[in-house]
Amino acid sequence: MLTKEDLIIVENKQIAKDTYEMKLTGEVVQFMTEPGQFLHVQVGDGWEHALRRPLSIANVERDNVSVVYKVIGFGTEWLAKQPEGQKINVLAPLGNGFPYKDVKNQHVLLIGGGVGVPPLYYLARKLKDQGNTITTVLGFQSKDAIFYEEKFQELGHCHIATDDGSYGTKGFVTDVVKQNAFSVEKYFSCGPTPMLKAVIQSMSIPGYISLEERMGCGVGACFACVCEANNDIDVKGYRKICQDGPVFSAKEVVLS
Ligand SMILES: Cc1cc2nc3c(=O)[nH]c(=O)nc-3n(C[C@H](O)[C@H](O)[C@H](O)COP(=O)(O)OP(=O)(O)OC[C@H]3O[C@@H](n4cnc5c(N)ncnc54)[C@H](O)[C@@H]3O)c2cc1C
Ligand code: FES
Repeated sequence: MLTKEDLIIVENKQIAKDTYEMKLTGEVVQFMTEPGQFLHVQVGDGWEHALRRPLSIANVERDNVSVVYKVIGFGTEWLAKQPEGQKINVLAPLGNGFPYKDVKNQHVLLIGGGVGVPPLYYLARKLKDQGNTITTVLGFQSKDAIFYEEKFQELGHCHIATDDGSYGTKGFVTDVVKQNAFSVEKYFSCGPTPMLKAVIQSMSIPGYISLEERMGCGVGACFACVCEANNDIDVKGYRKICQDGPVFSAKEVVLS
């Protein structure tokens, strides 16, 4: 149920280079059952209040939700400075998550890059609970940017690629996928658009991608998040990432 609520920060700590994990608690957390959905978070104390920032649900445990965010600009810098006990206004849960409920007793590949990794962790937990075997391939810029490796290892095999070769395989997530020729039935992916394009091109099995592009209202009113749709699937020609997504079938959208 979509709710606007002041959540309380339980923890806000740095877990990798420029990357923080924030745990929040509140009534709305009980509705955050779908991995791939996101929170639209109010930041700042002045005019910035109008512009919420979307952050994916990284995990839910009891009445706590975790988000993992990379500090890249005003909003995320502000978030990193907020202390425990501080209230943060969120609109949540938003969007359509990963279609995982019918995926049972399969071998599933999760492919994440940078801040696209967080929603895959909550998804991995749900898929594991349904008897699936999980293989994860995560890509980061360098060793000091890596997070959640141990958490994914607890759920299955986790391969790491770094752009500079400072940890794991030197190169991209798609290099790891090619080298290992995983025998999987389905894939789920989230990360920067160039990574998602490469993933779609390299996979011949059914897959789902989550897009983390720029966003405005978050609820379908402003068209700030529109992306091109595959005309063979929808003559309308576009999709709103906030409302129709952020998760799409790999064939549904055209990435530019
Ligand atoms: C559905 C969804 C889920 C997301 N989940 C996460 C998450 O779990 N963790 C996380 O760290 N980030 C996530 N993001 C991205 C996150 O929303 C942005 O990084 C954040 O809004 C940046 O806010 P800022 O005020 O710090 O940066 P700004 O000051 O707004 O921007 C700083 C710079 O980054 C660029 N930028 C801002 N947002 C994006 C973006 N979405 N994609 C590419 N470039 C951008 C700007 O153009 C600018 O150059 C998600 C985005 C979407 C749409
Ligand atoms: S962010 Fe406003 S329509 Fe999607």
